[in-house]
Amino acid sequence: MKAIFQSAYGEPSLVLSLREVAKPVPNRGEVLVRVHAASVHADVWHVIRGWPYVLRTMGGGFSRPKNPIPGTDMAGVVETVGDAVTRFQVGDAVFGECAKGFQWANGGAFAEYVAVSQDALAPKPDNVTFEQAASVPTSGLIAWHNLMGQRPWRAGQHVLINGAGGGVGAIALQLAKAHGATVTAVEHTRKLATVRALGADHVLDYTRDDPTRGSARYDLILDVASNLKLSDCDRVLHPDGIYVLIGHDHYGASGSNCFGSGIPAFLKLALRTAFNPHLVKPNMTAPNKQVGMALFADLMARGQLTPMVDRVFPLAQAADALTYLQSGQALGRIVVAP
Ligand SMILES: NC(=O)c1ccc[n+]([C@@H]2O[C@H](COP(=O)([O-])OP(=O)(O)OC[C@H]3O[C@@H](n4cnc5c(N)ncnc54)[C@H](OP(=O)(O)O)[C@@H]3O)[C@@H](O)[C@H]2O)c1
Repeated sequence: MKAIFQSAYGEPSLVLSLREVAKPVPNRGEVLVRVHAASVHADVWHVIRGWPYVLRTMGGGFSRPKNPIPGTDMAGVVETVGDAVTRFQVGDAVFGECAKGFQWANGGAFAEYVAVSQDALAPKPDNVTFEQAASVPTSGLIAWHNLMGQRPWRAGQHVLINGAGGGVGAIALQLAKAHGATVTAVEHTRKLATVRALGADHVLDYTRDDPTRGSARYDLILDVASNLKLSDCDRVLHPDGIYVLIGHDHYGASGSNCFGSGIPAFLKLALRTAFNPHLVKPNMTAPNKQVGMALFADLMARGQLTPMVDRVFPLAQAADALTYLQSGQALGRIVVAP
């Protein structure tokens, strides 16, 4: 089969090439999926760059990637099934996450075929395209885990999403709306119409407005852009409101080469959990992918989760797709299609 091969960590244009490689064979509990579309997102970029260096110790491979085929999530059609597969049959249209567990690692989605655990897949709803469905799993799981997995969800709460027009934020926004929240979305001027269209009740323009000033009070602040100070958020959180950090490193623009900015910020917050009522002990358990994927499939089928795709690149142009991602120009998700 044809696949994008990553020879080393580095600039996508230098380390990625299209190659002929062996088609994967599904193990017990896995299905082989003929990939129609695979998602291009910040964590794919991190694993190709191997940046920050500490991520290389978290499952992906220290000196070079253990799995040389990038991509963590995709949508396609089941080609064959392995032993003990009970949930899917040949010909089913599916979408899901092929990166294992909660690791920073390549998952093999940038290829014509990928083997995926049946537990990380869901049937693709008919009302969304393969490209739309492919853009959901990894961003959706991180959005769901951080929005709804930190403490029991409270319907009617007021949620502020900082960076609501990006990969994680746009799904968090729609999850929060589907579960009865009022949402204030913070974004760049050019993305305000998008976040309104996705259902935001209020919008703030980060080039002009400071979300930690003003009279609104929040039950939950989801900081995807990861630039807010906890001491400023304290001012606008209800007494029992919480602050949740995603940890965006802005494609290497913030933090050190060794640790980036996200991991040190997480560690600092973890140390302050005992002293600040607006922090909850981080939930380090991996999200249940089967439950999460079923939720996304259901919300998409009901029209409550509508992924916006900005651009589809041919598989051979995966490096260009990553350069476009890093440029920040996209108004919606980027996918590659074999
Ligand atoms: N997407 C995934 O599948 C995924 C999976 C696992 C982990 N993550 C992690 O989650 C983090 C976010 O990923 P993402 O895909 O959501 O990134 P993203 O698509 O780049 O979204 C971040 C958003 O924040 C906006 N932003 C930038 N500066 C801001 C500011 N000062 N105030 C408010 N908003 C601001 C950006 O707008 P501009 O375009 O104007 O900069 C962008 O829309 C990354 O660190 C990534 O590693 C992502």
